[in-house]
Amino acid sequence: MIFFNIVAKYEELCYYICMNLKKCLADSITFKLENVDFENLIVESISPDKGDYCLPCFSLAKLMKKSPVEIANIISASIEKTDLIERVEILNGYINFFLNKTYVSKMILENFNLADLKLNDGKNEIVLIDYGSPNLAKFLHIGHLKSSIIGESLARLFEQCGYVVKRLNYVGDYGTPFGKIIGGMLKWGSMEEVKQKGNEVLQDYYIRFNQEEKDNPELTQFARDIFKKIELRDKEIYPIYQTIVDIALADAKRMFDLLGVKFDDYRGEMYYNQFAPQVIKMLEDKHLLVESQGAKIVDLSPYDLTPAVILKNDGTTLYTTRDICAVIERYKEYHFNKMIYVTAIQQNLNFQQLFKIMELAGYEFAHDMEHVSYGMMSLPDGKISSRRGKQAVLVDLMDYALNEANNIIKDRKFEIEDPKEVAKKVARAVLNFSVLKVDRNKDCVFDVKTAFSFEGETAPYMQYTYTRIESILRKHEESKIKANYTCFNLDAFELVKYINDFASSIRQSLIKRDPSIMVKRLLDICKTFNKFYTATKILDGDDDIRNAKINLIKALRDVLALGFNLICIDTLKEM
Ligand code: ARG
Repeated sequence: MIFFNIVAKYEELCYYICMNLKKCLADSITFKLENVDFENLIVESISPDKGDYCLPCFSLAKLMKKSPVEIANIISASIEKTDLIERVEILNGYINFFLNKTYVSKMILENFNLADLKLNDGKNEIVLIDYGSPNLAKFLHIGHLKSSIIGESLARLFEQCGYVVKRLNYVGDYGTPFGKIIGGMLKWGSMEEVKQKGNEVLQDYYIRFNQEEKDNPELTQFARDIFKKIELRDKEIYPIYQTIVDIALADAKRMFDLLGVKFDDYRGEMYYNQFAPQVIKMLEDKHLLVESQGAKIVDLSPYDLTPAVILKNDGTTLYTTRDICAVIERYKEYHFNKMIYVTAIQQNLNFQQLFKIMELAGYEFAHDMEHVSYGMMSLPDGKISSRRGKQAVLVDLMDYALNEANNIIKDRKFEIEDPKEVAKKVARAVLNFSVLKVDRNKDCVFDVKTAFSFEGETAPYMQYTYTRIESILRKHEESKIKANYTCFNLDAFELVKYINDFASSIRQSLIKRDPSIMVKRLLDICKTFNKFYTATKILDGDDDIRNAKINLIKALRDVLALGFNLICIDTLKEM
């Protein structure tokens, strides 16, 4: 981070302030200990009476052969006072640093620049993210919501950290289910009906086919034969298949659109399956394929993995086979530095097998492949009626969310300019937030009852907080007088520190591949802001005092808008 607008002697210090307050404090300690970097020992204090940061001396006791209390005395005596430090206190083996709030706030806020939060860690490396990826033979379900939103949030985090991202939706458009849909249509429906009623009726054929199959086992072969014809591009069947896939994909795209997710590429299993013969040959050439009961498999027992079937005895490929094809083609096309798959935890084995096979086949990029998995999300029983029995279908969930969002917008006292658009953004925010607020790998129940509330840890609460800031800034009139930060209380200063730390919140979320870290930080910011807002009349006071508060909330607006975008929540000007 470079600040052009500051006096030279502060340049270095400022660099530290905005990058790393801990380092700045560590540098003020003149006492040196070999192999000890005080920066790594300094942590945030747990409560304001213990300062802003502290250095616990316990871990040094063994090294220095002294008690933590003695060590704290020695170190604190060596601390050089800088403008940054207001005072230092020692307490029970801790050195507590109290920052000079006025000085630090001024430095951070007057040098804040949103553009600096566009990080360059990735150095334009190419990251492919495979997410969303629904099976088009079925309605999108709640699991696809998770994949879509976690994937999209990661895509935005990667971009923010300086990577070039390609968003890949690897649609499931391959396999016997399509034979069943077409079989159902040939038996009980027609192409006219499909064109008229769309995806709904395709699902009906599929469900009825599955039911009738139970008493009528020959239907299974019927569906397989139809799928074979699809594979062979049969003149009659293949166009039907294409129409069906188009209809289902258009439906899925509508849903992604409502969720605010856009992909660069929709090539799926059928597209990549054409490369299967080359892949089989490659695996054979590398002596990785063995025969087992007529099928061709890769034996992964030395790696404690079950064997991966690559080709069934009837000559058809498997999910893993097609993933091998896809990754090889994707590498040829994009030369990716990372290939990330976002799916449910249930697919762990598939990806372990895939990564191992690529490694055994000698592809360097095998080490750049990564599976980002997630836990299950379910709905409370009976809360949302599903048109498909037990399965939580995404359209139903979206309908429900839109309806609830419309209701809360209707209840607002003032006129909203475009209530429909606002409701859409609230509904989307509630769904996306419900996915991202929980630790990625945890199972959770979507708490439908409280999700739409303006209070508590909810999406509307966050969106509403943002509109408060926007509304203050609309009322504020610029004044050129210098800002005076002496009025900042603990909450204001907490907010300043959040702003200063925001780059590290972004990095942490990306490194852990877990947007819930970002969600938690944004909730902290919103809560602290609302406390500050309730206790302080922001637009009151002399110009210099008001300007300080305005500088704070301008930076907050930028940070929140950026953060919301990273977790796929739209900001609203009013709600
Ligand atoms: N279609 C799969 C599903 O719905 C997810 C595909 C994930 N991507 C992949 N390359 N295997 O579960």
